[in-house]
Amino acid sequence: MKFHVLTWGCQMNDHDTEKMSGLLVSSGFSPADGIEEADIVLLNTCSIREKAVHKVFSELGRLKEIKANRANKMIVGVTGCLAQQEKEKIFKRAPYVDLIMGTAAIRQLPKLLADAVSGVGRVIDTDFYKDNHLFPPEIILRGHTAKALVTITEGCDHACTYCVVPTTRGEERHRPAADILAEVRHLVERGFCEVELLGQNVNSYQGGCTFAELLFKVAEIDGLEWIRFMTSHPMNFTQELAHAIVTIPKVAPFLHLPIQSGSDKILRRMGRGYTSQEYLERIGYLGDRRDKMCISTDFIIGFPGETDEDFEATMSVLEKVRFDASFSFIYSPRPDTSALRLSDDLPESVKHERLTRLQTRQTELTFQSHRREVGNIVPVRIESQGPTELGHWLARTAQWRNVHLETKEKRQLPFGRLVDARITGAGPHWLKAEIV
Ligand code: 5AD
Ligand code: SF4
Repeated sequence: MKFHVLTWGCQMNDHDTEKMSGLLVSSGFSPADGIEEADIVLLNTCSIREKAVHKVFSELGRLKEIKANRANKMIVGVTGCLAQQEKEKIFKRAPYVDLIMGTAAIRQLPKLLADAVSGVGRVIDTDFYKDNHLFPPEIILRGHTAKALVTITEGCDHACTYCVVPTTRGEERHRPAADILAEVRHLVERGFCEVELLGQNVNSYQGGCTFAELLFKVAEIDGLEWIRFMTSHPMNFTQELAHAIVTIPKVAPFLHLPIQSGSDKILRRMGRGYTSQEYLERIGYLGDRRDKMCISTDFIIGFPGETDEDFEATMSVLEKVRFDASFSFIYSPRPDTSALRLSDDLPESVKHERLTRLQTRQTELTFQSHRREVGNIVPVRIESQGPTELGHWLARTAQWRNVHLETKEKRQLPFGRLVDARITGAGPHWLKAEIV
């Protein structure tokens, strides 16, 4: 039987899809080219904001039609954060769903599918299996990406008042450092030169050493060129970690450190555990190297109780840090979160105005940050298998900037490898470059 997985959400979800696909292949299923060809369609979902949930249910509506018009049996499964959050309620809202699997039951997938295929009725498993994070890495079916994703921790022990993740991903579980090192060594042997260490909060890693110590150990692996990591919580961002980031040449000069708001009142209401001053101090731990790095962040706009003054504090922090990029979202009330108790009476129009103002300013800052790169010669990693329709190759700098690489003569570029490029132009969302 052939399967197809649709994926929403973060890198952890992308990687879970790689794990699920690998398990299915090793159990005798084969990947389909798309939904039309698939006997099994899995939706690996995200529930971070209401919009993400809407997308899943509208896709489910489409699948309902496809399933109804199929001559053969078609299995529809929902996995990931929405499955963990809503559990059997999904069966009520979408009765044509056959299978529901939570975020920490991934290894149960072949068994669940076998049951669903054999027609025992609907199947569900949303238990938190203690060994979910100890997934056998050799099984993982990796996507065609230049960078390999590597789980180091799952779950989150923080309790941000707006966030579903502690519910959907559970308590923190850490992979032993030896397992992580063995996986990275194996990936390098397979030809990967770049890894991204993943966790809901990598900074709190405790698999036998600190996260900073883990970075030093991973960096010792010969053949590995760049190490990235995602994502970090400012409360666990220590001097020791900043020192590791700035002193290990293989750690890519890129840091995503979500601040959420610049107002101390709002940060308190969010349960973030730091003030905006403390956040700035932590960025300061990076010292002079900060100027060579890209720093990005997340903002939540229109959190309950956010006044004009609170929003101005957010705009002011944007100017102080001059983030190279940021991702900003209007607050979305989520089930089972304590922020639901706060009155959310800010008019939608005000939230949208604030979001637009912040995003417009961020675009200017990102553009400025891109323009500073023009003229530089930097290593970039080839991220596309061939030229795009516009005739350029896609690549990334160490700072994770998007590069459109132009080649004068027609030539094949080595996927996943570094080439030296001169930055020739900049836009708000990309750089242009030519190979030197
Ligand atoms: N509403 C809006 N944005 C949210 N995020 C997390 N929860 C919510 C929510 N309820 C944002 C945060 C986080 C990013 C992954 O998503 O900014 O850092
Ligand atoms: Fe979405 Fe968060 Fe789950 Fe990732 S961990 S899929 S961002 S809800």
